Amino acid sequence: MTRLAGKTAVITGGASGIGRAAAQRFRDEGAAVIVADVRGDEDEVVACDVTVAGDVERLARLASEQFGHIDIVFANAGIATHGTGATMSESEWQRVFDVDVKGVWLVCRAFLPAMLDRRAGSIVINASQLGLVGYPGLTAYGAAKAAAINLVRSLAAEAGARGVRINALCPGPTLTPGLEAFIEAAGGADVGRELAASTLLGRLASAQEIAAAALFLASDDSSYVTGATLVADGGYTAV
Ligand SMILES: NC(=O)c1ccc[n+]([C@@H]2O[C@H](COP(=O)([O-])OP(=O)(O)OC[C@H]3O[C@@H](n4cnc5c(N)ncnc54)[C@H](O)[C@@H]3O)[C@@H](O)[C@H]2O)c1
Repeated sequence: MTRLAGKTAVITGGASGIGRAAAQRFRDEGAAVIVADVRGDEDEVVACDVTVAGDVERLARLASEQFGHIDIVFANAGIATHGTGATMSESEWQRVFDVDVKGVWLVCRAFLPAMLDRRAGSIVINASQLGLVGYPGLTAYGAAKAAAINLVRSLAAEAGARGVRINALCPGPTLTPGLEAFIEAAGGADVGRELAASTLLGRLASAQEIAAAALFLASDDSSYVTGATLVADGGYTAV
């Protein structure tokens, strides 16, 4: 388990769910990891709201002071607000876009310059299978994740010649506190069962399974992969 031996990594939204599982997996693989989250109240979590440029820049400074350089950024922080296009408020729409699109860009902007200077680095954006297909009631979320997927393509085009890789990960429904909150808001256990049944595998993913996909994109195992969208959705979007 040394696929990230000697590497340094920053994970946003790492206090819960997929980010937490990725922090554990990256450490198990030998990386030194900084976990950042808007919930900075837990031990060893750096307080950072990815929608606030000053927070994100402070995180990049702290990471560089602590580790010298950063090899891997997993821009994982994200939110999903339940609301239909006909009913959601402007502020709900704005908050989803602030976290899921602007937050991702701010994280890339803060960490990319040093990676470009070193001509090395891997950035993984946590998008969603719902950035590829529609879903009633996650209208802003799906639009924001689609934007994040295409943001990755442009950033990868800007960074590729200087040795920096940027990819999008599209998990399917994954059992995390975030998904549990969505299921609750959307109508309860039946929604969870429907989501599981919408995959070809007939079940939700574990956070560890998605962390394994993030590890592939973060590590040198994917050294010829950039600007790509890795779908790890149990077959949700295949049919
Ligand atoms: N769970 C799923 O089914 C699923 C499916 C596809 C994509 N995703 C994506 O995976 C990522 C992680 O989701 P999860 O299910 O683990 O969610 P989660 O809610 O369990 O964890 C998300 C973490 O992000 C943090 N966060 C939220 N807003 C933030 C901000 N402004 N700044 C910094 N941190 C912030 C939260 O505090 C939380 O710790 C998200 O981008 C989500 O959209 C999740």
